[in-house]
Amino acid sequence: MNQNINGNTKVLGLIGNPIEHTISPSIHNLLATKLNMNYVYVPFKVDDGMLDKAIEGARALNIQGLNITVPYKEQVMDNLIKITPLAEQIGAVNTLKYTESGYVGYNTDAEGLNISLINNSIQLKNSKIVIIGAGGAAKAVGMLCAREKCKKITIINRTVIKGEILANNIRQYYDVETEALGLDEIHKISPFDIAIQTTPIGMSPNVHDNPVKNDDFYKKFHIAVDLIYNPSKTKFLVEAERNGMKILNGFQMLFYQGVKAYEIWNDISIPEEILKEVMTDLIN
Ligand code: ATR
Repeated sequence: MNQNINGNTKVLGLIGNPIEHTISPSIHNLLATKLNMNYVYVPFKVDDGMLDKAIEGARALNIQGLNITVPYKEQVMDNLIKITPLAEQIGAVNTLKYTESGYVGYNTDAEGLNISLINNSIQLKNSKIVIIGAGGAAKAVGMLCAREKCKKITIINRTVIKGEILANNIRQYYDVETEALGLDEIHKISPFDIAIQTTPIGMSPNVHDNPVKNDDFYKKFHIAVDLIYNPSKTKFLVEAERNGMKILNGFQMLFYQGVKAYEIWNDISIPEEILKEVMTDLIN
C-alpha cells in the first residue's frame, strides 16, 4: 500500500484501451514525488461505449486532470466545455483539465514534439519536412510544422487520399506549401531537410519493419525523427544513421507531452533541473 496517500491526495489519470504498456504513470508519479505534490496518477482502462460515463464519473469524483490515449483522443472532444485552438486544428485532445463547469481539452503531443526538437537543435522554421503517415499522430506533427513556419510539408502515406485530406486540412489554417504522395511514389520526392516517421511501423515487437525501404530516400535529407520510442532505434532510424544522418526517437516527445500536461493541470512551470532528474530516473 502507498503510505503517502491520504485525505488530501488528488487523483490524476489516463483513459484509454489498451493501456497496459503505458509509461505515463511513471512520468507523472515521479514528477509528483520530485515536486513534493500530493498527487497520484492512475491508468483507467475504459471499455468501448463507456467513455461518456467515464468522463462524467471522473468529474463527479473531482479528478483534476486526465490524459486521453488511443482510441479516444477524437471521441473525447464531445465531452468537453472548451478546446484549445491547437487541439481544434489537430482534431484530437490528449489532456483534460478539470474546471467547475466541466473539462477543458488540450493537445500536448504537438508541444511535446516541439520541445523535443528544440532540445535537440532541430529547427522546423524554413525547413522542408516529409511526414511519413497521415493518421492522428501525423496530424499533430503537420499542424506543428505549419505553425512553426516550415517551408514545405510532403506527406507520404500508403493511402494517398488520407495524405491529401491532411494536406488540405493544414492549408485551411496555415499558408504553407504541401504535397501528398503514396509510399510507392517516394522516388518523386526532391531533396528536403527532415523526415518525421509517424506510423506504428517498426514498433516493438515488429522491430524489423520499416515503412521506407527505398535506399535513395535516405540520400535526400539529413535529419530523421521517429515518434516510436520502443525500440529506441527503429529500423527507420538505423537506416538513417547508416546514411550519416542525425536521428531522434520519440522518447522525449512522450516525456514532454506528459510534462506539459502536468504543468497545465497545476498552472506551474517545472524547473529544468527537476525535469533532468526525472528523465534520468526514467531512463535508468
Ligand atoms: P495514429 O493515431 O497513431 O497516428 P492511425 O490513425 O491508425 O494511428 O494511423 C496510422 C498510420 O500508419 C496511417 O497513416 C496508416 O496508413 P493508412 O492511412 O494507409 O492506413 C499507417 N500504417 C499503419 N500500418 C501500415 C502498414 N502496414 N503499411 C503502411 N502504412 C501503415
